[in-house]
Formats: sequence, structure tokens, C-alpha cells
Amino acid sequence: MFDLIVKNANLTDGRIGVDIACNGGKIVAVEANITGEARDTIDAEGYLVSPPFVDPHFHMDATLSLGTPRTNVSGTLLEGIGLWGELKPIQSVDDIIERALNYCDLAAAKGIGAIRSHVDTCDDELKGVQALLEVREKVKDILDLQLVAFPQDGLLRDPTAMENTIRALEMGVDVVGGIPHFERTMSEGAKSVRLLCEIAEQRGLMVDMHCDESDDPHSRHIETLAYEAQRLGLQGRVAGSHLTSMHSMDNYYVSKLIPLIAEAGVHAIPNPLINIMLQGRHDTYPKRRGQTRVRELRDAGITVGFGSDCMMDPWYSLGKADMLDVAFMGLHVGQLSSRADMDWCFDAVTVNSAKIMGLSGYGFAKGCDANFIILQADDKIEAIRLRAHRLAVVRHGTIISKAHPITHTILRRGSSRLINEARLENPSV
Ligand code: FE2
Repeated sequence: MFDLIVKNANLTDGRIGVDIACNGGKIVAVEANITGEARDTIDAEGYLVSPPFVDPHFHMDATLSLGTPRTNVSGTLLEGIGLWGELKPIQSVDDIIERALNYCDLAAAKGIGAIRSHVDTCDDELKGVQALLEVREKVKDILDLQLVAFPQDGLLRDPTAMENTIRALEMGVDVVGGIPHFERTMSEGAKSVRLLCEIAEQRGLMVDMHCDESDDPHSRHIETLAYEAQRLGLQGRVAGSHLTSMHSMDNYYVSKLIPLIAEAGVHAIPNPLINIMLQGRHDTYPKRRGQTRVRELRDAGITVGFGSDCMMDPWYSLGKADMLDVAFMGLHVGQLSSRADMDWCFDAVTVNSAKIMGLSGYGFAKGCDANFIILQADDKIEAIRLRAHRLAVVRHGTIISKAHPITHTILRRGSSRLINEARLENPSV
């Protein structure tokens, strides 16, 4: 007796028409025509079954706060940081918990199975840390929440940031964060990278730093981050988030930099929706896109995962917890339009981001966690094209969200026609 069997699944690893059997929260078999009883059965009808989406970069302490106490008028990163500074003192731990739980419910229904969220540690009360540690426990039946201690106002620029960041790690925050480009000088930024990487090395933690999130072609903190990862033996445990300045850097310098990032085993996390919205704001025309050099980083062997960063907060008024929106934007801004490149963009919001977060038991191998989603699309590219509807979300072998396929009835003179946009070759479904 299985807990769950999914019939007739097309997997993201290329296998077609297979069944997935789950028991005890794990995948126990993936093969054609699995027989036997199951507590639950889903017919995937040949639709795409994928491991869950993974969001490697988010700010859950700020999400769903749009309009409180006001909106961002200029649309710039710096006004967003200022606005967040106005919101921090007036929000309570309970406010943050309520908003975060709402977000996690939506994210789980949208097929996100793991989120890495930065949490602001420039607050002597550490309200965000208190709240999100509680939320991490409360949501573990629907998704994995990994927290990054993030000194938003600068580790060295803010007088109590160092002390509070260490307190946050003592309280159980998982990853060491930073924001070197927000320190007062380039040298202070480099010093903050060194200190934070040393803290991570001493504690055996991963590092994920907001790095060079600007249009400044001379910002060099990713170089320092790669150097420190190499020096301290942190290869594979360090990520640079955003890296938008790389878009503006001199090509000769980048030809040296990218191999250094690869050699240091540092991962890259662009955030396409936010990068295209916030960067290039000081430009007239031509106006820079701001998204980092995704193709070149990937081709150098660097693991690149796309993050969502924000939803309805001081920096970004839109968003709907949809990693396919993120992949869609990353694809367009990066001009990743070949079949192979589009296929890779799906990996950037699934397997690549799972690797960056260090998730175990991710995928369809026997013994992996029985976590997967069914999308109303036939393959990965179609999933991005359609921002495909989530038909079912399975977590630990249990269905935690389900929906009917979306079809549209088109009424014409004297007749009607049913359209399923994922199956246009078969319009009368
Ligand atoms: Fe961020």
C-alpha cells in the first residue's frame, strides 16, 4: 500500500509517461505502470511534473507591507531602503508573522517548496528575526524556510549591526548575509565582506551577500567575496546576490573576474524582476538593463539561480509568488531565447537554486523527498511560456494544494468551443 501514486507524468528530467510512487514522505519508485494500492492517486494526464520551485532570494520580513507607511514614489532602491527604515519601528513581531504566513501559504500553492529569506538584523529588538524563526517552524509542513542574517543598513555603517547579526545567528538564523555596497566606502565594504566570511567560516555556515547591487561599474565586492571564499575554504557555500554592477563593468575586467568567481565556487543569484525594475534609474537613454551577466556566468560553470527578491513591499509593488514569472523575466532580460537556454531558465528556478541553498533529497531519484508539483504544461519551456497553472503540489507525499486545469469556453454565434492553452493541438478537450 503506497501513500500516493502519480500516474502518467512527464518529468522535468525528460522521462515521459512514468508513474511516481511515494511512501513515508519519500519517492520509492519512478517507472512505467506501477501497480498496487495507494491511499491517494493523481492522474497527471501527461502534464509536466517537476521538483518544487526554489526561491533562493527573498525578503519575508518586508513582504505584503505595500503602502505602509507610504509607497515608494521614485521607484529607486535607495528610497526603498529609506522607506523600509520608516516601516521597521512601527511594525510588530505579530505583524511580520501574519504577513509571512500569508505569503508562505500563497507560495506553497504556487509550487514553491523552499525559500531563502534575508531577515534584517539592523534592529536592536530583532523583530524580524524573532518573527521569521517562528514562521520557519510553523510552515515546515508546506515549505522549507532558510534564513539569512542581513545587516540591511551596513555591518559597519550601522553602530549595532555586528552585535545584532551575531545575536541573530546565535538565535538560529542559518546563513550569513551582508551588503558591502551600502557601507560608507569601498574599503569598508571589503572589510565587511572579510569579517562576515570569517564569521561564517568559524561557525560552519553558508554566506549569501547582497553584492554590488548598483549600476556602478567600479563596484568590486564580488571580487572580494570570491577572494574570501577561496582564502577561507568556503567553496560551494557562498553566493553573491544581485551582482548588477557586473552588467556595467568593463569587459576586460570581467574576463578576469568571472574565472575568479568560478574558481572560488561562488554561486550567483540574479533577481530579474527587481533588477530590471530598480537598475538604470539614473540613466537617460540608452538605459542599462542591470541584470548581471547570466549567460557568461553560467557558461563559466558557475551555478546561477534566479530569485524573486520582493513582493508588494517598499521596493516592488507587484509580484505573486510565481517563480515562472521570475524565469520569464530572466529569460527576456538575458536574451536567453534558444531552446536550450529557455530550458535552462526553468532549472534556474528549480535545481540550480536547490543546489545553492544546499537542499538535500531534492529531485526524482529513489529516496528523495516526495516533494513535487504538477504543472499544466507539457514541458519546461511551455511552463515558462504559459506561467503554467499549478494543478497539484505534493509535499512529503501528501497533496497540499490542488486545482482543476484551466480551460476557457469561447462563445461564438451558435456554438461554443473549449480551449486549453496548454493543449492547443487538441482544442476540443
Ligand atoms: Fe534582496
